[in-house]
Amino acid sequence: MTRLSAITPSGHAHLGNHLGALRHWARSDGPDDLYFVSDLHAMTVSYNPPRLRSLTRELLAVLVASGIDPSRLCVQSDLVRELGALSWVLECTCSYGEAARMTQFKAKGGTAARLGLLTYPVLMAADILLQGASKVPVGDDQLQHVELARSLARRFNASYGEVFVVPEAVTPPTAARVRDLTSPDRKMSKSTRDAAGVVFVLDDPDLIRRKISRAVTDSLDEVAYRPETQPGVANLLEIYAACTGTSPRDLTFPTYAALKSAVADAVIEELRPIRSGVTTLLSDPAELDRIRKAGADRARTRATHRLDSALRLAGV
Ligand code: ADP
Ligand code: NA
Repeated sequence: MTRLSAITPSGHAHLGNHLGALRHWARSDGPDDLYFVSDLHAMTVSYNPPRLRSLTRELLAVLVASGIDPSRLCVQSDLVRELGALSWVLECTCSYGEAARMTQFKAKGGTAARLGLLTYPVLMAADILLQGASKVPVGDDQLQHVELARSLARRFNASYGEVFVVPEAVTPPTAARVRDLTSPDRKMSKSTRDAAGVVFVLDDPDLIRRKISRAVTDSLDEVAYRPETQPGVANLLEIYAACTGTSPRDLTFPTYAALKSAVADAVIEELRPIRSGVTTLLSDPAELDRIRKAGADRARTRATHRLDSALRLAGV
């Protein structure tokens, strides 16, 4: 069984990425599991090339510093030639209607949208199929992309010959959903413009404390775990519980100030080793380059045979 997951360098990694994804990836035990920085996906909307390159590098360093086995890491664009080739083959088996049905395109698409916004679910299918991933852990928002990858794999296998593993979406059990600290009605996200409610993995301790002290709560002045009626407080309790290995229902704090101070301490401690590891990694560019190249070589080795078979079966 091979698992595959990705994080897009559309911004800096945040506490939600860490608690909901990265720290679980670090516990991954499948020898062929693969985690990658999906920089090609960041090109589907307007972006700045030097910033993309620097975010990609920073994110790779964050993944390594999070304890993910470097042999399971790679940067998507290091396989751009292989992925480009397979994407074309898959695009030629995918209908316009299938691609246009994807919610991302329905939400942000239009005649002025980049064609890549329409076709990137096919690129995602290429990521999955090229590596022969059997399990793709996803949230609800990504389920339909894995469904598309399944359809395209089945269709190719049936029309041209068996070459692709048909992937399965797996929903990770109770992964923490961290909410924005100042707008607890939405999830913490890299692409949020106002970063006041977003704790970044690389924020310094003072800034983390300041952001958490300004987290939105409510006027009930009672620390209780009631996600429906007290979402801000519930979010802080969940963050504290995730950082300390406790359950949000069991926690008691006398005041909101005491809760926020404890959450800040816990988050600062949780992120400290990652921040320090990233600082070390970014100060030694040759070592990070070496890790990146080794990951790319491994992923490419795994992909080449399957790509060659697919091209041959497709008649080119
Ligand atoms: P973002 O939405 O911040 O751009 P991505 O879409 O790149 O993040 O997701 C990378 C990983 O982080 C995915 O596994 C996703 O489920 C997880 N993730 C993103 N935001 C959160 C959050 N607020 N809480 C928990 N997990 C999250
Ligand atoms: Na996003």
